[in-house]
Amino acid sequence: MNAGIWGIGRYLPEKVITNFDLEKMMETSDEWIRTRTGIEERRIAGDDEFTSDMAYYAAEKALKQANVDAADIDMILVATVTPDRSFPSVSCMLQERLGAHRACAMDLSAACAGFMYGLITAKQFIESGSYKHVLVVGAEKLSGITNWEDRNTAVLFGDGAGAVVLGPVSDGKGILSFELGSDGTGGKHLYSDDAAKIFMNGREVFKFAVRQMGESSVNVLVKAGLGKEDVDFLIPHQANIRIMESARERLELPLEKMSKTIQKYGNTSAASIPISLVEELEAGKIKDGDLLVMVGFGGGLTWGAIAMRWGR
Ligand code: UT7
Repeated sequence: MNAGIWGIGRYLPEKVITNFDLEKMMETSDEWIRTRTGIEERRIAGDDEFTSDMAYYAAEKALKQANVDAADIDMILVATVTPDRSFPSVSCMLQERLGAHRACAMDLSAACAGFMYGLITAKQFIESGSYKHVLVVGAEKLSGITNWEDRNTAVLFGDGAGAVVLGPVSDGKGILSFELGSDGTGGKHLYSDDAAKIFMNGREVFKFAVRQMGESSVNVLVKAGLGKEDVDFLIPHQANIRIMESARERLELPLEKMSKTIQKYGNTSAASIPISLVEELEAGKIKDGDLLVMVGFGGGLTWGAIAMRWGR
């Protein structure tokens, strides 16, 4: 029995901050941000809008699309590094708000790779037959931990949420293979500092990301017994267009076969892959039976990838 995606939803806060807005706040330029990262604007949550709110709006849509009642959800996993508070977890808050009273719920901390960790964890419970419906959410309010005095990081991040309902799917569909990895020795390159704000050694993270995104993408194909030529669509974590491009080139894919939403939303950490997946589905770029590769990396360091055959 394979686990696959039954329904999906996303939520993005209304407030847009463009590179030109940032030019007024710090010493930076639209030109620098666009050419070095691919980002043009990002969404920022309101003061009274929290990770659990964004997770809820995205989850509601995913449940509706999956045609699953909240009461039938067995498990809720929320990947986030920006929970409303240290506890109760965002997933427990979400459980209450959705009325998913049968579900067990926990948060997962794997930074920008969190959504991949969530998907792959959900897959184990579904394939073992333990659970039927698992809600996996990537939700972040990174604006709350951004050091707005640090131009090295402040221009990169945005807020948002994406959610999927996973359940059993027919043979040959769903998650075909996966890879997960961590390297705590690289933790020093990307962390929340004493003031609980993001610190990043961009160059080190960049080198790691370029290597890992390409390697993991190829590894999941090999594990699934497939080749680069079988890939219909690549959905990389949206951290930097140059990192995404390196993964695309490693898979020898044409431009139009890679999801690119970074220009609109910046880096939304654990939310970036599900948000991008929704956008591509809505644009009609992913069809039943397509082979997708999703790949992410983040602070920890962490990484994860899957090969997935779209459809139920
Ligand atoms: O989700 C995982 C999280 N993180 C990542 O994926 C980030 C990975 N790293 C990166 O994406 C890139 O390293 C950055 C976009 C963060 C930086 O790009 P870069 O090409 O590696 O630039 P750099 O750090 O080598 O900096 C080049 C110059 C520096 O000036 P000097 O020292 O050469 O005079 C920086 O001070 O650019 C300067 N700089 C800026 N200038 C204008 C750094 N940030 C800015 C800025 N505006 N916002």
